Amino acid sequence: MTESSVNQPLVVPSVLPADFARLGDEVRELCQAGVDRIQWDVMDGVFVPNVTFGPDVIAAARPHSAVGFEAHLMVVNPDELLGRYVDAGCELVIVHAEACTHLHRTLAHIRDLGARSGVALNPHTPAEVVEHVLSETDLVLAMTVNPGFGGQAYIPAVEPKIARLRRMIDDSGFPIELEVDGGITGDTIRGASAAGADVFISGSWMYAYPDGKTAAVAQLRAAALDSAPHREAA
Ligand code: DX5
Repeated sequence: MTESSVNQPLVVPSVLPADFARLGDEVRELCQAGVDRIQWDVMDGVFVPNVTFGPDVIAAARPHSAVGFEAHLMVVNPDELLGRYVDAGCELVIVHAEACTHLHRTLAHIRDLGARSGVALNPHTPAEVVEHVLSETDLVLAMTVNPGFGGQAYIPAVEPKIARLRRMIDDSGFPIELEVDGGITGDTIRGASAAGADVFISGSWMYAYPDGKTAAVAQLRAAALDSAPHREAA
């Protein structure tokens, strides 16, 4: 089997649980806690029942962050919005395969706009959906909850799909990050990491961690490292 290309684990908070009345401060606090990037869960009320951040909100927060932004577009027409989220300061834009008629073209378009491209798969969507677009992809996101809300329970049944995606990425030879999002805690991260994920989105667990966000980030990183199948030398 191809040597695993699993990278050092990245811990990326979702700002969904943040106090929206003080997003600049919240972003600064996340950076001080040592996160690797920040994820904005963009929801349009159609692809998922919730409605969240427009590009102007993200642009307003951008100057307050020392780390990169990624936009997770849970929207029905991502092609129409890509440029606005890149212009707002998102260096990585993730679209849902389920929302893209021409996924290969959409991913190439994100790169043409100067951002890194990502594709997300809902829990029911098979790994094979991305098999022919890996050349256009910088990140694959395996959702471990049904998207729309924070605070949901992790779905362990997604772990075989994470492992399948890890093998597909390793066999492709492309430097693609494998991200998981939904119900990630100090415990559930172990199964996702063991299956081959290397980027971990955490929202409610990180915000509720009793010892604060810095300790939560350290806990997640240590647990991911401890349970990873194999890591390249740093
Ligand atoms: C679902 C969202 C959430 C969020 C993380 O649409 O994408 O998964 O980012 O929320 P928690 O960590 O609370 O599940």
